[in-house]
Amino acid sequence: MTAPPQTNEARVVRVALRERGYDIVIGRNLVATLGSRVKALRPGTKCAIVTDDMVAVHHLEAVEASLAAAGIATAHVIVPAGESSKNYAVFQDVCERIIAARIERGDLVVALGGGVIGDLAGFVAACVRRGVDYVQVPTTLLAQVDSSVGGKTGIDSPQGKNLIGAFHQPVLVVADTALLDTLPERQFRAGYAEVVKYGLLGDAALFAWLERNWREVFGGGAAREYAIAACCRAKADIVVRDERETGERALLNLGHTFGHALEAATGFSDRLVHGEAVSLGMVMAFEFSARRGLISADEVARVRAHLAAVGLPVRVTEVPGGAPRLDEVMDLIAQDKKVRRGKLIFILVRGIGRAYVATDVEAGEVRAFLAEQLS
Ligand code: GLY
Repeated sequence: MTAPPQTNEARVVRVALRERGYDIVIGRNLVATLGSRVKALRPGTKCAIVTDDMVAVHHLEAVEASLAAAGIATAHVIVPAGESSKNYAVFQDVCERIIAARIERGDLVVALGGGVIGDLAGFVAACVRRGVDYVQVPTTLLAQVDSSVGGKTGIDSPQGKNLIGAFHQPVLVVADTALLDTLPERQFRAGYAEVVKYGLLGDAALFAWLERNWREVFGGGAAREYAIAACCRAKADIVVRDERETGERALLNLGHTFGHALEAATGFSDRLVHGEAVSLGMVMAFEFSARRGLISADEVARVRAHLAAVGLPVRVTEVPGGAPRLDEVMDLIAQDKKVRRGKLIFILVRGIGRAYVATDVEAGEVRAFLAEQLS
């Protein structure tokens, strides 16, 4: 895989889902073009922008100005930043405010923010007036490479994350990579774990490219856009083949079964943010695969070395405040959505870039593995 050419042109990745197909546009300073893109897609539309109080400070004015310049009337709804906004109360409030803003069937919701806003606003769009269309304007690396693409929307139940939701595809994703310049470094790094995920699950050449070029991805410029486009292309291909996750789409959960349990065990707190948990989870998925004789220790070491080089956690004993308890992690894994008819579903690997869905994993085997990891 060669270095990306220097170009100022936006990259476009098509999610070819027939009548639900849409473009993901990736490039620097694209917010300025949002209004004209929305107008071309949906002449005469009004827009309700849903965002959070942190993102609003940096980006709401520019988004409103871009839409206004194209003659598009807007209303906005601002919710508190953070996962706690993905609940019934905030969902209800956002729905009511969008109805009050007289957003109709032909109008659009604009989700301006990271994964929480994309999930919440997308689910609101899926429900209000039995479904209005929406545009994703992701403002974090994680959202640009993963959550804004593919139509998973939802909120959390008191019984677990993302348990209430719908598949509802956006009609456009505008990933302005300049918005990532204002991200705190920890958040960018956490999002980078999802970038690595695409290499590890299905594209060994991308992983090798990231090993050589990660500094430029962090620095911005053409390498960043190239990496984001590569991830979006990989995700788009998977989503087209398995929109509703009856099979292959589950590969996108590489590192998420272990990672999600660790995230929950640390209270979804600053101790371990999502991407950091995914980093740990991916190393654990590789370790677990090696324990089963599927891959060599060298491959595990290579994955660990890259994640550690960018500053992501790679050992569960590194979790601030100490590693979670074995029983708690086991309980959380058993409650995960990735359990089907009592069998644990894990994404394991037969090599870098060769992930598969394992349905034969016994709880006892996981417990023995976790006992080693957590000690
Ligand atoms: N983030 C995993 C998926 O969209 O399927």
